[in-house]
Amino acid sequence: MFGATMNAPDPAIHATAEPVVRRLLVDLDTPLPRHWCGGDAFRTAWFNALSMSFPVGEQFFIDAVRAGVATLPEDQRTAFEPAIKAFIGQEATHRRIHARFNEHLARQGLVNRWDARALRRLDKLQGVDLRIWVGATAATEHFTAILAEHLLSNQSSLEGAEPRLATLWLWHSSEETEHRSTAFDLYRAMGGNEEWRLRLFRVVTWNFITDALRQTVNNLWHDGSFWRARTWVEGWRLLFGRHGLVRTLRGPWRRYLSADFHPSQQDERQAATWLREHASAWEPVGGGARASSPAATATA
Ligand SMILES: [Fe+2]
Ligand SMILES: [Fe+2]
Repeated sequence: MFGATMNAPDPAIHATAEPVVRRLLVDLDTPLPRHWCGGDAFRTAWFNALSMSFPVGEQFFIDAVRAGVATLPEDQRTAFEPAIKAFIGQEATHRRIHARFNEHLARQGLVNRWDARALRRLDKLQGVDLRIWVGATAATEHFTAILAEHLLSNQSSLEGAEPRLATLWLWHSSEETEHRSTAFDLYRAMGGNEEWRLRLFRVVTWNFITDALRQTVNNLWHDGSFWRARTWVEGWRLLFGRHGLVRTLRGPWRRYLSADFHPSQQDERQAATWLREHASAWEPVGGGARASSPAATATA
């Protein structure tokens, strides 16, 4: 699978050196309003769809980097340890929080079809070269990183969202920005080559876009919003509007195709600013007490 075109292993690690895992302090006990994203059925269905993919997807990322790093020589394994620890801690928290979010969606009558499709696909990866696992993780992490960049810089996607839920999405976005390089660096260190990096990115792109849209439509169907004309005006705006996903993500998506791409080229200042300005919304795990809003409920 990886033949003569294999790159020389590159042990450089660009990921965040400081393993910060954060406990999010938001109320996830109160039920979600049906159209929690500004009363907009399409935007809500889209974010709900993404959330539905996280418990299975992020567990796969954790399994991939954990198994991948174990294949490295000891000196490289040691060098990767802080970044891998942060990556696993952050993704484990994300999947736990989104599983709670998804419980509300199930109670609203929404049906998660994405996770079953993803599990079937992951079943086929059993026994496959671990560089494929880590390469697929790196490709998906580019998607999460550019979506994070979009959310942190383009407030219109979360405009009108319930504040506690906007906090959840922007906290997740900030941490995705922080650990965006980990799987990519690991792929390179494992000797993953360019040909497969790009091939996996194309496969991940197709799967991600079709899964996200199918689940969004499914959510609208179960939500009863499918036949409303307004839903599709909202959908057009989110996808093709001036600040829509197609216009804002096409360029960042293409960056991955460049031979000299590295995730660290993405600006991380907005994520750092958000985390600093919303420090009352989270506390570091194992980092001692920090004052939080009396209304906040520790959920992680
Ligand atoms: Fe995540
Ligand atoms: Fe991630």
